[in-house]
Amino acid sequence: MKMFALGVAATVIVALAIAGGLAYSGSISVAADEPHHPMLMRLISTARERAVERHARFVVVPNDLTDADRIRRGAGNYDAMCAGCHLEPGESDTEIRKGLYPVPPDLTRAMDDDHEGADDSGVPHVAEHFWVIKHGIKASAMAAWSRGGMTDDDIWNLVAFIQALPEMDRTKYDAVVASSGGHSHGTTGAHHHDEEPGHGHDHDAHDEAPSR
Ligand code: HEC
Repeated sequence: MKMFALGVAATVIVALAIAGGLAYSGSISVAADEPHHPMLMRLISTARERAVERHARFVVVPNDLTDADRIRRGAGNYDAMCAGCHLEPGESDTEIRKGLYPVPPDLTRAMDDDHEGADDSGVPHVAEHFWVIKHGIKASAMAAWSRGGMTDDDIWNLVAFIQALPEMDRTKYDAVVASSGGHSHGTTGAHHHDEEPGHGHDHDAHDEAPSR
């Protein structure tokens, strides 16, 4: 038993040394224009999907995500901060999206694995979206937007908007963005009150003009 444990420990140490040596040698590609080995990609994707699923289980989903006002309030922020990577209706790519790895998902299209709003695990997509927007994804271009000052309410408005987005054409998109008060949440300087509960809703009126 003791020999077996020693054998396992030695194998682990050798494996770690090889991994460390490889890293140190500089021969692992970090270039965004060279894809990972398919096996490594599979491993990373599984880790991401499982981790998001696991954490999103505990997210309490508000029941007003189809509310037109929520969607409207999410629109300006989406257009200002997300569309460059996640696209607008009618757009097939953007300059930055072409060069990103992993490629940001096209949020103007409905998800392939959508079974009544949830994936096979039963965790609702909206809960997963909320978690990803709030916490971001490590070593990808997806930021933890809560760090920049978005409140949970701002993030739910974005989730509501993203839910509605695949149904929108260009005209509808432009109209809802124009009506939304532009880029508006805690980071714009004038509204530090957004951090306080209950203040997330009413800051559109005194916000900057729509950016388009
Ligand atoms: C600089 C590019 C970039 C910007 C800007 C960006 N994202 Fe992302 N986003 C990504 C990437 C890349 C991924 C995929 C990460 C991965 O798979 O590892 C992602 C993933 C997501 C996902 C998960 C989608 C899914 O199918 O699981 C959501 C939801 C999302 N982003 C929403 C947003 C919102 C909302 C904003 C604006 C507040 C935003 N993103 C801004 C790059 C970006």
